[in-house]
Amino acid sequence: MMKGLKKWRLFSLLAVMTVFLSACGENYISTLKPAGAVGKQQLNLLIFSTSIMALVVVVVSVLYLLAFVKFRRKKQDENYIPKQVEGSHTLEVIWTVIPIILLLILSVPTLVTTYKLGDVAAMEHVDEDGNKTALTVNVTAKLYWWEFEYPEQGIVTAQELVVPTDEKVYFNLKAADVKHSFWIPSIGGKMDTNVENVNKFYLEFDEESQGLKDGVFYGKCAELCGPSHALMDFKVKTLDRDAFDTWVAAMQATEGQTASKDSTDLGEATFAANCLGCHAVSGAGASGAMGPNLTAFGDRNRVAGVLEHSKDSIETWVKNPESIKPGNLMTGAYGKLSDEEVSAVADYIMSLSVED
Ligand code: CUA
Repeated sequence: MMKGLKKWRLFSLLAVMTVFLSACGENYISTLKPAGAVGKQQLNLLIFSTSIMALVVVVVSVLYLLAFVKFRRKKQDENYIPKQVEGSHTLEVIWTVIPIILLLILSVPTLVTTYKLGDVAAMEHVDEDGNKTALTVNVTAKLYWWEFEYPEQGIVTAQELVVPTDEKVYFNLKAADVKHSFWIPSIGGKMDTNVENVNKFYLEFDEESQGLKDGVFYGKCAELCGPSHALMDFKVKTLDRDAFDTWVAAMQATEGQTASKDSTDLGEATFAANCLGCHAVSGAGASGAMGPNLTAFGDRNRVAGVLEHSKDSIETWVKNPESIKPGNLMTGAYGKLSDEEVSAVADYIMSLSVED
């Protein structure tokens, strides 16, 4: 009686979990709800290979159970010995040939898709004027943030990748310190970012992110890289081509923008004296900064990638970054600022924006 009850409990728990887990597939972060051609192909491959593997598991389990039932001692005479088969040509051929066929069915589409998704030849294509025709973004992963450089446009940003919809966007991926991995679950990936080489691939973004829950797709670091690995998030804003061009122009227009120590604005002056050395406020430039570029900070969706986008969050972060992201490189440097200065700096960086 007790045993039966326990089994029943386990069953209800599994049923509840099924219902609960099936709600996990949010379109801004789920591999199961792809919003781009690459993600769709990866999902198809996933479903295809899982189905074949599940089929094998089912067939083997059924055979196992059949043998179990058929040869139960209870059903047979005490001294019954089933027919003993020692070496059967037919059986051996069957269990050799079937797996070979299944592996071929699995491997051909996998290899074809892998090579297709790794084809980055178009990265080098140029028009008559010698300009690259495809959009390329250089991604640098750092402890624990992301830098996005657009070499052809001469701009750089951090933490929020901005890309146009309905075209292939090519990525050069590298890391500045340890190995990380670049992953936008509902778009595609993941691919390692290494220190010693550059990995390349492309992604396609079919849907404008504006209609999503936070107006962005979520990106993650997918390689255990240190104590704040799980907090190494970034966001992806996808715009139609016109809006993207507008954004690029607005970023380019910030060329030369800086903060002055002599400013009458306490926030700007404090920022210039304490933060500007690592955090640029001009979006025109190349990668390689010590800290995230803050030119478009006011347009972002999160503070430090994980906190709510508010003045409070900035103050919490600036006063004690270590409490939010253990092991990050900003740790400990800003304890000397007064509450008034921190508040003014928060107002100042919140005002940095390139969007209308
Ligand atoms: Cu970077 Cu995990």
